[in-house]
Amino acid sequence: MLHPIQTGVCFVVLVTSALAQTFAVPATKPASAARVDSALLSLSLEFFAFPGYTQVTSTSVCMNHIATLRGHAPAVRIGGTTQDRATYSLNLAEAVNYTVASSADAPTSLTFGPSFFSLAAGLKGADVTIGLNRQLNNMANSLQAAVQAKNSMTNLYAIEIGNEPDLYGSGSPIITTGTWSPIADGQSEQSWQNAMSSSTGDIFQAGVYLSNSWNIPSLITTLGSAIRHTKTFSRHSYPQSACNGASTNLPSLMSHSSIVTYVAQYASEASAVHAAGKQYFLGETNSATCGGGGISPTFGAALWIVDYVLQGALHGVDRLYFHQGTIGNCAYCFWGRFTTGAPFYGVYFVSQFLGTDGVSIVMLDSGTSSLATYVVYSSAGAPLRALIYNSAYYDGTTTRSSAIVTLTGLSNTGKQSLRLTAPAATSRVDEGAAVTIGGLTFDGNCNSVGSETVEVVSASGGEAIVSVKASEALIVFL
Ligand SMILES: *[C@@H]1O[C@H](CO)[C@@H](O)[C@H](O)[C@H]1NC(C)=O
Repeated sequence: MLHPIQTGVCFVVLVTSALAQTFAVPATKPASAARVDSALLSLSLEFFAFPGYTQVTSTSVCMNHIATLRGHAPAVRIGGTTQDRATYSLNLAEAVNYTVASSADAPTSLTFGPSFFSLAAGLKGADVTIGLNRQLNNMANSLQAAVQAKNSMTNLYAIEIGNEPDLYGSGSPIITTGTWSPIADGQSEQSWQNAMSSSTGDIFQAGVYLSNSWNIPSLITTLGSAIRHTKTFSRHSYPQSACNGASTNLPSLMSHSSIVTYVAQYASEASAVHAAGKQYFLGETNSATCGGGGISPTFGAALWIVDYVLQGALHGVDRLYFHQGTIGNCAYCFWGRFTTGAPFYGVYFVSQFLGTDGVSIVMLDSGTSSLATYVVYSSAGAPLRALIYNSAYYDGTTTRSSAIVTLTGLSNTGKQSLRLTAPAATSRVDEGAAVTIGGLTFDGNCNSVGSETVEVVSASGGEAIVSVKASEALIVFL
């Protein structure tokens, strides 16, 4: 996949205004290194749209890229708002049935049949989590679906019962008594897990909260001994929102220090989940809700993904499931029917950084500036690759600044690097901009076009010097 060219050109130009920083690369894995799950970067597919995704060429092609780069398929969670609008129908021949006024709409109610789970069983090599309905308060129906999932999917990993119950409105059938609260929800999750687990096994993904005021440590307390039926805990996370006219901000989304601060909020929740012996996932996440506010399809969002995924691992998030919504009406989606969006370039790049051999990472910077520097280590504790992300915002209108980064403590000289770049943070593939990874691009079906060209890195005496422009990222092969 790597296609080196030996240009012999030393491209580093010391610009007086450039940010210059030096980082010592630990020669062996530090004790502080964070474990990287083999499915750290995973996918969430909106429930009603899932059968449609299996008909889109890019779905398997994009997922195969991640699987090849990481040596393990990304996990898939099938769920979202429409899981709580769905009713299982044993006699339905189609995977899903619903009516919408426009193909851009999500259905307000739908039915799904046994073939829904046959399609899910076809996600080979993936851990698949199925999101079922709790809001409609029809446990018998959700149990029937869960049993069908268990019987037809060898890749079934977990079952969610309810999506974002913190948002259940007062008219929700599940709210049978006066007030809905974290305690009421926890008791509901407890009783559903207790009732269903004898048929399904102990495979529930609990929580699935969006609101930060509904927290997982409290849920753990409320679940009590029912936690033995819980396999994983999920929290949903969207750093920004365009809902109800809220404005979005791309410089803030992609800012390294902002990403560090944002993800750090999950560290204590992750610790509590790990202390309970379970895994902690951002089970549905992406950049901005309610249409993305113009920032979600940009190259800046691709850079955000790179940094956000690595910060997730550093703060105890075992997996991040990036949500893919309505096909053809989804600003943050990695792919659709016609375009592989800029965000997928970030997915590909961070997957290549972690590789098939990367098992743990460290951050070398303090997390307080625009410059991020990470190192990924092998199972033997040897440094494999460094990733440098210059999150300074470049909108394409002024002079583009650069960071000059010196890596020291390297074992030998003659390094190579791979650059993720675009004309500006605002660049969009769907508007024709050239987002590239060492020159590599993707066509509308997610097939790679061209090959990656690495750069020769100026290096001597165990030191390598690289230049990373504002709104750009670079992998250095160590
Ligand atoms: C599919 O749903 C529509 C309502 O949206 C309903 O009229 C129709 O009978 C359903 N088809 C099947 C096969 O259940």
